Amino acid sequence: MGLIKKFRIKSFKSEETIVELKNTSVFYNKRQILNNLNLKVKKQEILGMLGPNGVGKSTIFNLITGLKNPNFGEVVIQGINVTNLPINERFTKFKLGLVPQYGGLIHDLSMLDNLKLVAEIHIRQRELREQKINKIVSQFEFEALLNIKAKHLSGGQKKKLVIAMALINDPKILLLDEPFAALDILTIRMLQEIILNLQSTEEISVVICDHQARDLLSCVDRAIILSNGKVIASGSPNEVISNQAAKTEYFGDEFNIN
Ligand SMILES: Nc1ncnc2c1ncn2[C@@H]1O[C@H](COP(=O)(O)OP(=O)(O)O)[C@@H](O)[C@H]1O
Ligand SMILES: [Mg+2]
Repeated sequence: MGLIKKFRIKSFKSEETIVELKNTSVFYNKRQILNNLNLKVKKQEILGMLGPNGVGKSTIFNLITGLKNPNFGEVVIQGINVTNLPINERFTKFKLGLVPQYGGLIHDLSMLDNLKLVAEIHIRQRELREQKINKIVSQFEFEALLNIKAKHLSGGQKKKLVIAMALINDPKILLLDEPFAALDILTIRMLQEIILNLQSTEEISVVICDHQARDLLSCVDRAIILSNGKVIASGSPNEVISNQAAKTEYFGDEFNIN
């Protein structure tokens, strides 16, 4: 925790809301997944969403990107009601970046070709495109891996590649769906540093979810705890850990991060 903390922006201040879910409910068949859920992401914050498997974390990302429409309620991005706006328009208009829980790259292409593919979609001018790829390659230290097919990369390298691909478009809102799942401790530390560095160098808001509390809480400004379709606690990592509802429903009594 300490190691990571020193990278944090101390003067995080913005209270401006960049993404808001207003009274959103989602049903699959007759099963209710989200129940009148309210959530705000503030500009330039790193917001962590925690909750058990199946609680609806990926569903929340799907509501933000437009992959899923809520049965009730509204999705608002930068003050605009986007509930009926298609996915592609949301991505371009608001510069969304998504690192999905699974997949996100083309296995039979090399690392470099995966990067080029995304760059060609987003950046018209060849020179700018090459500059951007070079910047990302050096930032992520990809030099030795460029010609390896994605399917032969390790789990951590794949995850780094998908994050890098999401960053090519200089997103303003980056959504990371369980980026630490099944990775070793050193790779998790490296990804946490990448995320924190992004916040200090780019104007970016990050929403990150996980079902494991420890790794998530050490790299977020604020966290929300989800249970039974609702946000049951919200606050700084220390605040949510000591919240009684969050203890009862999610952390248990023994949990601490120090
Ligand atoms: N397309 C779907 N059809 C039916 N049920 C779904 C579908 N997608 C998700 N669900 C259900 O919705 C719930 C929330 O899923 P999800 O958002 O993926 O949870 P999490 O990401 O928190 O693990 C789960 O119980 C899951 O089974
Ligand atoms: Mg999920």
